[in-house]
Amino acid sequence: MSDRARFTTKMGAIAASVGSAVGLGNIWRFPYEAGENGGGAFILIYLACVLLMGIPVIVAEFVVGRATHRNVNGALKQLAPGSRTHWFAYIGIIASLMILSFYSVVCGWIVEYLILAVSGGLSGHTPEEYGVMFASFSSHPWRPMLWTVLFLLLNHLVLRRGLKRGIERISNMMMPVLFVILLIFCIHSLMMPGAGEGLRFMFAPRLSDVSATVAVKAMGQAFFSLSLGLSCLLTYASYFKDSDSLVRNATVIAFLDTLVAVLAGLMIFPAVFSYGMTPEAGPKLIFEVLPVIFQQMHFGIVWAVLLFLLLFVASITSTISMSEISIAFFEEEHGLSRDKATAVSTVIALVLGSLCALSFGPLSGVTVCGMTLFSLFDYVSSNLLLPAGGIFFSVFVGWMLEQRLVEDELTNRGTLNVRTMRVLLFCMRYVAPLAIAVVFFSLI
Ligand code: PFF
Repeated sequence: MSDRARFTTKMGAIAASVGSAVGLGNIWRFPYEAGENGGGAFILIYLACVLLMGIPVIVAEFVVGRATHRNVNGALKQLAPGSRTHWFAYIGIIASLMILSFYSVVCGWIVEYLILAVSGGLSGHTPEEYGVMFASFSSHPWRPMLWTVLFLLLNHLVLRRGLKRGIERISNMMMPVLFVILLIFCIHSLMMPGAGEGLRFMFAPRLSDVSATVAVKAMGQAFFSLSLGLSCLLTYASYFKDSDSLVRNATVIAFLDTLVAVLAGLMIFPAVFSYGMTPEAGPKLIFEVLPVIFQQMHFGIVWAVLLFLLLFVASITSTISMSEISIAFFEEEHGLSRDKATAVSTVIALVLGSLCALSFGPLSGVTVCGMTLFSLFDYVSSNLLLPAGGIFFSVFVGWMLEQRLVEDELTNRGTLNVRTMRVLLFCMRYVAPLAIAVVFFSLI
């Protein structure tokens, strides 16, 4: 058994899951995906996905994890003995390694900007100059790769040395601080002239923006942000106590994660419109917009350092959780020692992550279906593999597992009165798998 987190308190269980969910997905990916995909329409579909697919699939993963107290492969072997169901575990393992690879590149960007903030490089420029600054950094032949490699080595160290607990404790203390800082940034952003345009962009959906592509991206964002469909939450739930309420935990995670994403939007979009910048800037969006906001604030440099530092902490709790999926797999299914399992997962991420880091520079011409490696990994994992995992978990728990077992888990053997159970089970059986399938097929 690996030394994954064991949660001694109810708060610890929720905090670690929230630590996994809240990360760059909320603060970096959500604003740029919303910006590229029509704003309001994207956000509306995103919220519907969190509610109708997100919560039921979180609960489905929780049921499998807590009912077995095992890793995904072992859990599926136990619950569906003699079948090939456990092969579905590979969706999560492949997706987790792909995500770790491109996610580490963005963590590297955060490190670069943290250093820039400390050294005073993030002040005294025009918005255009910040754009040029990011473009020249991200296309640099080795700098982004260096940070990616260093970040992955740090992640490796944390996982090997069992520093995970410590990091999680720090993160639990920092999360409320991150929340307060986001609020302060939102207020500043909302007070900029022309901020109302940003609010309209976020909350006034235009029907003409709704399309199959927007729906797929909003659904992918919901899964990515909730760390869902790749058995990350299943793994954490395998350490939940039998007295934890699965439904309540799922609701708290979905609520907090969505709140942080919306706050990030409220921080970015008013500033974007106030300065006549473009919301469709893509992955570089926050790196162009945040420096502009820092400039508006008293002691802007201090705020900049704080924000990037907190983003760094939030992202490392996410990379730890996604690394655990493949480590546990190599360890428990292939008999590797924890050190070896961690090394294998790090080496894979180092190779793939370096290639992703070069996607904005030397390898920008290497494309598959018009996407660089960075975008390809992001697209395939978030928009295809995670929702596919979502269909699997909702069908497995909704239809294949014995319903007595599912209801026992949801009600803690009849000791909890879960008023939403029927609605939840309905969503798990019908709404989530059908809606995911409809969104997929609408692409064809
Ligand atoms: N949910 C994380 C974020 O929003 O940053 C990203 C993530 C973590 C995805 C863990 C998948 C995962 F297993």
